[in-house]
Amino acid sequence: MAVDLLLGLQWGDEGKGKIVDVLTSKYNIIARFQGGPNAGHTLVFNGKKHVLHTIPSGIFHDNAINLVGNGVVIDPVIFKKELDKLEEQQIDYRKSLLISRKAHIILPTHRLLDAASEASKGKAKIGSTLKGIGPTYMDKTGRNGLRIGDLELSDWKERYRSLADKHESMISYYGVELEYDLNELETEFFKAVEVLKSLQLIDSEEYIHQAQKAGKSILAEGAQGSLLDIDFGTYPFVTSSNTTAAGACTGLGVAPNQIGDVFGIFKAYTTRVGSGPFPTELFDEDGETMSRVGNEFGATTGRARRCGWLDLVALKYACQVNGVTQLMMMKGDVLSGFKTLKVCTAYKYKGETITHLPYNIEPENLEPVYTEFNGWNEDLTEMSESAQLPKALNDYIAFLEKELEIPITIVSVGPDRKQTIFR
Ligand code: IMP
Repeated sequence: MAVDLLLGLQWGDEGKGKIVDVLTSKYNIIARFQGGPNAGHTLVFNGKKHVLHTIPSGIFHDNAINLVGNGVVIDPVIFKKELDKLEEQQIDYRKSLLISRKAHIILPTHRLLDAASEASKGKAKIGSTLKGIGPTYMDKTGRNGLRIGDLELSDWKERYRSLADKHESMISYYGVELEYDLNELETEFFKAVEVLKSLQLIDSEEYIHQAQKAGKSILAEGAQGSLLDIDFGTYPFVTSSNTTAAGACTGLGVAPNQIGDVFGIFKAYTTRVGSGPFPTELFDEDGETMSRVGNEFGATTGRARRCGWLDLVALKYACQVNGVTQLMMMKGDVLSGFKTLKVCTAYKYKGETITHLPYNIEPENLEPVYTEFNGWNEDLTEMSESAQLPKALNDYIAFLEKELEIPITIVSVGPDRKQTIFR
């Protein structure tokens, strides 16, 4: 059976966790394929909010298997904290959670290296979540990394020591002041590693192949967003993995011709957290309203997210790079009350009007061209059917569908599982 993909089409925080949770009842297996605890997937049900960082968003469903794929980077300390939270809620994860032996491990010194690298960049910093993501993927591609499967080797501690020592000398190379107690960090790390070792560690690509053969349905859950992709995002202000559809193939061991539907998640407006260009960013009252009504604060770092109008040029680009087959629009409810809405449909770029995403989208090169729409005042949060949606919102949706040539099959009108309209 084909593997369906679900990914974010903007700069992350689109609401992927909620939609995975909503769709999980249709799938046997939910698999994360890239990123790590820089992600914060928020789920709300039965009046309670849950935030997951590394564990797939299907974990709250009894029947789903949740797989952490080879493309993911795992911080044992954060992973253990996530498990502790699940235990508090009596979620029995031991049978339903599987981890790829090929996933890479985030060491305490990876986190320190991230902090040292960012501090050394000064104003040019990426705005990283400082979870050690970049340094861990650097060790992976540099062929120095430690993998989950290494935990089962008799000499794993020596391997750990040798890499951590190398990192310590690299930290001193950055020449920045970092206060840390490595002994303390390592005590916590090794304790968490023991917990990780007690879980089901598997050869995940083989597991997936067998599951496909047995007719199991699989949903691959992306993290971050397409504009943070290491190749296609706003480099260097990106994360260190392929967040786009191709990342699911390498991050799970699924062949391209085995991919089925690609669900693209986007917000009805745009947000970004961290540094980097953002053509439709708002610095006025409209931006403040989006931030306040949308509660736009990072689920992982608590940082305020930058807000702006929907950028259709960037969205079209993301749809193309991913081969999106269905769109899901989040947070339509946040736009209730705006008199006029704007959508960026082109850029003025070096004296020309263009409709594609150019190499350099720094603000000095580029100015957004907007199409305006009438707003609506109705509160959407209690609506449950497409027929209840205001005409102005339906016009907005119809315009996006026409421009993107992809159907919008879900409109989310609030954070709760129940606040989901299927079209
Ligand atoms: P890193 O992946 O933590 O190094 O962060 C690199 C950039 O990606 C920073 O701008 C982060 O704010 C951003 N980023 C990383 N993960 C997420 C996410 O899950 N949501 C939104 N932004 C993210």
